[in-house]
Amino acid sequence: MSKSVVIAVDGTAASGKGTLAKRLAAHFGFAHLDSGALYRLTALAVLQAGGDPADPADAVRGAQTIDLSLAGDLAIRTDKVGQAASQVAAIGAVRQALLDFQRGFLASPPGGSPGAVMDGRDIGTVISPDATAKLYVDARPELRAHRRWLELKGMGIERDEQGLLAELNARDAADKSRPISPLVQAPDAVLLDTSDLSIDAAFAAALALVSPRIEGALKDRHRG
Ligand code: DC
Repeated sequence: MSKSVVIAVDGTAASGKGTLAKRLAAHFGFAHLDSGALYRLTALAVLQAGGDPADPADAVRGAQTIDLSLAGDLAIRTDKVGQAASQVAAIGAVRQALLDFQRGFLASPPGGSPGAVMDGRDIGTVISPDATAKLYVDARPELRAHRRWLELKGMGIERDEQGLLAELNARDAADKSRPISPLVQAPDAVLLDTSDLSIDAAFAAALALVSPRIEGALKDRHRG
C-alpha cells in the first residue's frame, strides 16, 4: 500500500491552526485529527476522576481511559480543561500512550482517505517528522486572546480579555519550555502568521504553501 499523504499543522494556542487544518482536510478530501483534543480528553478524564493533571499516574490513567466520542464535546473546550491539558501534555508517559493512536491515524487515515491533516504542537517534529507538508501557525498574542474571547462569548461564556491573554501566554510558555516534545517550529515547516489575515485569507495562504507538495505527492501515489 502506498504511503499516505500527511499535512502537519503545528502552532500556538488560538492561532487558527485548527480551523486551517479542518479546511485543508476538507479541500483535499483528507481525514483530520485535532491532536489537542486527545490531551484535552485526557485532562477531562483526570478531572472527572478527581485526579491531579500534574500527577503522572493519574494522567496516564486518564490517557488510557479517554472517550473519543467526546472529542466534539464543548466540555473539553473550557480554559480549565485547556490548562490541565497543557499539564498532562508535559508528562512523557502520557505522550507515549497517545503516540501509537496518532501515528496509526496518519498511516491509515479513516475512511480509506489518501491523506490526513493533523494539528497540534509536535506533529511535524515528533509524530510525523517526514510529513509531506508542514505549517507552523502563529499570531500576535493580543489577537489570539481576542479571538478566544470572541469564541467563548459565542459559547455564552463571558471572560475578561486581559485574563485570557495572561492564560494564553502562560500556556504557550509552558508548551514551549517543557523538556519533552516542546512546541517548536520544525526546521522544514513554513511559518504562517495569521495576525493580519481573515480566516479566508489565511486559508488561501495555507493552501498556496502546501499545494505544490500535496499535489505532487498525490500524483506520485497514482503513478504508484
Ligand atoms: O491545541 P489545544 O489548545 O487544544 O491543546 C491543548 C493542550 O494540549 C496544549 O496546551 C498543549 C497540548 N498539546 C500538546 O502538547 N501536543 C499536541 N500535539 C497538541 C496539544
